[in-house]
Amino acid sequence: MNKRKRLFTLLITFLTIAPVLVRSAPKDDSHMEWWRDARYGMFIHWGLYSIAGGEWKGKDYGKEQGGASAEWLMKSADISKEEYRATLTPQFNPTSFDAEEWVSVAKEAGMKYVVITSKHHDGFALFDTEATDYDVMDATPFKRDIIKELSEECAKQGLRFGVYYSQTKDWYHRGLGKGSGTLSNEDYLELVQIQLDELLSKYGDMAVLWFDTGGSNLIEADAQGARVRELQPDTVICSRLYSRRVPLEDRRYADFESLPDRMLPAELATGDSETCMTLRHNWGYDRNDDAWKSSKDVVEFLALCAARGVNLLLNVGPTPEGTLLPEEIDRLTEVGAWMKENGDAIYGTQQSPLDYDFWWGAMTRKENKLYLHVLEWKREGIEFNGIAAKPSKAYFLADPKQKPLPLIYDAKGAVTKVKVPAKAPDSKNTVIVVEYAESIVVDSDAKGKYHWYTNRRTRHTDIEKSEAAGRHALPQAVTGN
Ligand code: GLC
Repeated sequence: MNKRKRLFTLLITFLTIAPVLVRSAPKDDSHMEWWRDARYGMFIHWGLYSIAGGEWKGKDYGKEQGGASAEWLMKSADISKEEYRATLTPQFNPTSFDAEEWVSVAKEAGMKYVVITSKHHDGFALFDTEATDYDVMDATPFKRDIIKELSEECAKQGLRFGVYYSQTKDWYHRGLGKGSGTLSNEDYLELVQIQLDELLSKYGDMAVLWFDTGGSNLIEADAQGARVRELQPDTVICSRLYSRRVPLEDRRYADFESLPDRMLPAELATGDSETCMTLRHNWGYDRNDDAWKSSKDVVEFLALCAARGVNLLLNVGPTPEGTLLPEEIDRLTEVGAWMKENGDAIYGTQQSPLDYDFWWGAMTRKENKLYLHVLEWKREGIEFNGIAAKPSKAYFLADPKQKPLPLIYDAKGAVTKVKVPAKAPDSKNTVIVVEYAESIVVDSDAKGKYHWYTNRRTRHTDIEKSEAAGRHALPQAVTGN
């Protein structure tokens, strides 16, 4: 069948089954339960651009140098698709790639899911696809299906596996980069459909479909969302299937709101949401980027995201050889060590019951427990207002003996104070559990501010209210400005 005919058949099939598809969408949101409990996942940006590492012909185009992130190289350096392909595909031979090691690092870090770039904006697929020869099997000497190896390894080690997929931007096939694409728009949409079918039928359970930079064409986006639902109704679909300009209520296949890159949200989330964050400036591997966040930065950011009710998808950008960087492994291992002792304050928690946070940090909640994430220590004690009851007990989460910490409760103003030792037991984030005999009662008159959004400008919070801002929140925190 020629392509046009095939597209026509697909369209007719879609129109005929569209009502069925709508019905096959999950009726409830039970498919979101694991995702809500997980709170923390690994993002992986890896592809042809990783070979260049942000540089082209001796010039640096990485984000730290003021350009776009390293995976935008084709666009930033204005490279034609022919030259980009001819230069990079023969070099893509990451023989040190070991799915077992990557997944072990994610698991050790306490991450519960993994999302990797199956196809980024450059159009190159890390999986075996029939839709094009611009993929790891046909175009590179490596000839190993990376998505297959990683998905199998995640299943083996008990982590959920998902893919990032750039559905709208494809500088190679669709064009919009330098020169035109290899395909007409119609044929491009068919390529997307074929690739989605492949991703959703060849790699076992697809936990997340992380679409990116969606457009405003609702017919296009809805058809792609419907296809995902049809093939795997439990796949969690990222809101970037649609452009941010599409009103929330029209994003019918979006399961969660993906916040702008690297953003610590201003306030409590009102629905399922996720922030994605880099470990340095760039998403893709960049040889000159040394703006590393510390493991304390990551632990703080994770805690603040959880306190606002937001998942954190933390990025790594593996090397051309196929390895994670030692700096990435070190940080993730340190965060994992913290998670081993304090994971209860993150996994399966709800956002803070209070619509503000505190100078010392913020809180998460689970049943009749509050978890105070103390990011800045004060020997005078850790104090909070807003809960109208005396707690029954307080102790350090990392203390297996749960030795009680002295408590003072002042009913006037509903202020609770936990007395603490002079030195913080955990310099990254000491978690204090505050337990209540009954359920947690919020004082509806309580007032407070978002300290970690507005006041702490030199840390995570160089964030304006606008959507586009906040992208560089943490790197500036690291340089300590
Ligand atoms: C943006 C960028 C992209 C990156 C993504 C990660 O959409 O275009 O390069 O993959 O953010 O969230």
